[in-house]
Amino acid sequence: MDLESKLLAIVKDGAELEDTYVWSKLIDVDHNMVVGTMNSLIGDGYLLSTAKSEEFWVLTEEAEGYVTNGSPELQLFRAIPVDGADETGLVAALGEALVKVGLGKCMKSKWISRDKASGRYFRSVESVERDDLVEQLLSIKNGALEDSGLIKDLKKRQLIAQMFVLLSHAAAQRHTLSSRLTPHLLSPKLQNLRKRTSYKVTAGPKWAPVRAVLSSELTKEMLDSGEWATATFRKYNFEAAGREPGGGHLHALMRVRAEFRQILLEMGFNEMPTNRWVESSFWNFDALFQPQSHPARDAHDTFFLTTPSRTVSIPEDLLSRVQAMHEGGGGGSLGYRYSWKRGEGEKNLLRTHTTAVSARMLYALANAPGGFKPAKLFSIDRVFRNEALDATHLAEFHQVEGVVADVGLTLGDLVGVITEFFRRIGITDLRFKPAYNPYTEPSMEVFGYHPDLKKWTEIGNSGIFRPEMLLPLGLPPDVRVIAWGLSLERPTMIKYRCKNIRELFGHKSKLEMTRSAPIARF
Ligand code: PHE
Repeated sequence: MDLESKLLAIVKDGAELEDTYVWSKLIDVDHNMVVGTMNSLIGDGYLLSTAKSEEFWVLTEEAEGYVTNGSPELQLFRAIPVDGADETGLVAALGEALVKVGLGKCMKSKWISRDKASGRYFRSVESVERDDLVEQLLSIKNGALEDSGLIKDLKKRQLIAQMFVLLSHAAAQRHTLSSRLTPHLLSPKLQNLRKRTSYKVTAGPKWAPVRAVLSSELTKEMLDSGEWATATFRKYNFEAAGREPGGGHLHALMRVRAEFRQILLEMGFNEMPTNRWVESSFWNFDALFQPQSHPARDAHDTFFLTTPSRTVSIPEDLLSRVQAMHEGGGGGSLGYRYSWKRGEGEKNLLRTHTTAVSARMLYALANAPGGFKPAKLFSIDRVFRNEALDATHLAEFHQVEGVVADVGLTLGDLVGVITEFFRRIGITDLRFKPAYNPYTEPSMEVFGYHPDLKKWTEIGNSGIFRPEMLLPLGLPPDVRVIAWGLSLERPTMIKYRCKNIRELFGHKSKLEMTRSAPIARF
């Protein structure tokens, strides 16, 4: 019979199992196993239990030594030969401590005597039959009953335990073993008190002699055979913690995006709506004071759309202000002095930078009901460029962009905000190098010292947006807009030690990129 059926049988007809621990000894099964099986049966309503804790004694190391070698007095008695022994010899053989205790006890029990003239010890009895201390210790060790004389060996002990279960089975007796345990007569040097929990077990509301096999799912086979009609189904456990999902890792790029987003949010930036990959040339270039003859506007650099090829919904007044600025300047600028073509601006393209979205947002800020209010904005999204593909360039990548608009901002503010942003992503040494963008003046490339790579690398581009860009958008003349941008891929490649961008992004990307833990801060 298996453990489950044994447990079910023992509590049949209102009977009780008085103590799982005693029972586990009787059937020679680990108590934890019994408790495990019991709990599982309780879970399905077959059993009920009441916990009880019991105190019991265990032998110390010293006491275990006596059980093996005999009590100090017996060891001493044995060490005395027929022609006697002197104390020095005994100490040499047994050690001082043992001789001290052993001599006292042996003299008291009159097992030995001391010859006054020679000072030697001699046996007074021929042999010693009983070793009371060891018997006492053994009865403790065996968890024996009060009358330790009753139980000499394991067999007898098992018999008693059996009797005990039979008695409790009849539900007549309520004695527990603990009440009959050997009282603590011995010194704490020999025994320690321990605690254990065991259980009284009775039949539960759903008791049955055999545990029903519960079906956990309805299968096609059950439907075919008709078994579904009689099967008992396992109840759903809606409280179960469930297994932790093994999937769902963030891709390295998305992980870094999440970190950057968090940092920018913590710095008080709001996210821009970047959900438009198709953009008009107007917002991508013209609104940014990028002349229509600029080489970046060539099909060699930019992906233009054939369908739909044009955007016509650009506000008229804005169009004409931008045209005027390109053609003739304004606010102190001379403009580019060429003939601006509306058709060029209407051409659709895949945006080449997220600065197109920043321009839209600045226009919205300038024309917000109630007038312009200062703002801190950021975006992290995809951009497209008609690039020759190599280890560090793809035709599409992600840009991180930050924009701050307020009255009277300076280059110092730009350096400050960039320094803080990069400090938070783990780069503290920065250098700024003059650069050129059509829409910013001054412009600065940002170089960072990478502590892991131990070299200066270009990590971003930045600048103060030109009045030629801001005035046509409708921003008040004293409003300054500082901005910076960087690619998301580069810090991710550095952080994850990825040498080829194609391992990170696109159809050749490695699965490890989705699982790897961060190994270095960028
Ligand atoms: N748009 C720039 C680029 O594509 C980045 C940039 C953003 C530069 C904002 C200055 C200001 O690299």
